[in-house]
Amino acid sequence: MKGIILAGGYGTRLYPITKSISKNILPIYDKPTVYYTISILMLSNIRDILIISTPEDISAYKRLLGDGNKLGLNFIYMIQESPLGLADAFIIGEDFIGNDSVALILGDNIIYGETFPNILHEAATLKEGAIIFGYYVDDPKSYGVVEFDKNGKVISLEEKPSAPKSNYAVPGIYFYDNKVIEFAKSVLPSARGEIEITSVNKAYLELDQLQVKILTDILWIDTGTYDNLLEASNFIKSIQKDKLLCIGSIERIAYEKGYISKEQLLTLAESMSKSGYGKYLKSIAERS
Ligand code: DAU
Repeated sequence: MKGIILAGGYGTRLYPITKSISKNILPIYDKPTVYYTISILMLSNIRDILIISTPEDISAYKRLLGDGNKLGLNFIYMIQESPLGLADAFIIGEDFIGNDSVALILGDNIIYGETFPNILHEAATLKEGAIIFGYYVDDPKSYGVVEFDKNGKVISLEEKPSAPKSNYAVPGIYFYDNKVIEFAKSVLPSARGEIEITSVNKAYLELDQLQVKILTDILWIDTGTYDNLLEASNFIKSIQKDKLLCIGSIERIAYEKGYISKEQLLTLAESMSKSGYGKYLKSIAERS
């Protein structure tokens, strides 16, 4: 399975913060936001990752992440000239995806939970159809919303409904078989002029090939507002302190998955040795 991180858009809801910096480079406590999204793909055992961003911002991602070799990953970069919609990721990424299945994650979604890695492993074994997730929120109006019948079967999907039919929002991580490329190409722009991921999901629903897995005991934050950014940073800080772990550490995951050696981890740690994060990586290498 291939992975795509959609990290474009202009972040206008976060102005002036994002006037000169891409939203997904902004820090969530001690790491750039994109670290958390990459870690979710890594926990899904995905190593080929396409990062899509704007013509102005793509160089910042390249500078931060390089070609991925130092993490045992393969990063490819492509440009989205203008924010045509989330489904555009599959049109831009058509050659990258090839004949494979693909996971898409939105660069501004932070998801954490102890059970989440297992859920990701399973989703990444997808052979046919699509797997998306449902997450209970008090006010789902600004999300994709999924409706279930009384037996838990999905009956509808709506993008940003003014009268939501349930409280289950769809977080920005999606797993698809290869049909997603054709579905994305056939989707018509919505009233807001975008080719919506919800329309792609509806195409799978019509084929009866859409699975929606409810996420419980998991925290999902879409970091699209000032408050959510702060909430995400505070959450990461407190959980790292309480549980003595480090969330979204792509270097650590690469080491634990055996993609890089202890020496390579130490080299990465050395390159950041003045920061707390660099010291943390060094301690991981030395304690094992
Ligand atoms: O966060 C989950 C929600 O994400 C889903 O529940 C919705 O169904 C889905 O449409 C999406 O809604 P948003 O309103 O949050 O999407 P937004 O336009 O904010 O875009 C999400 C991220 O993707 C954002 O960081 C910018 C980036 N983006 C967006 C578009 C439309 C791109 O890189 N390219 C694009 O063309």
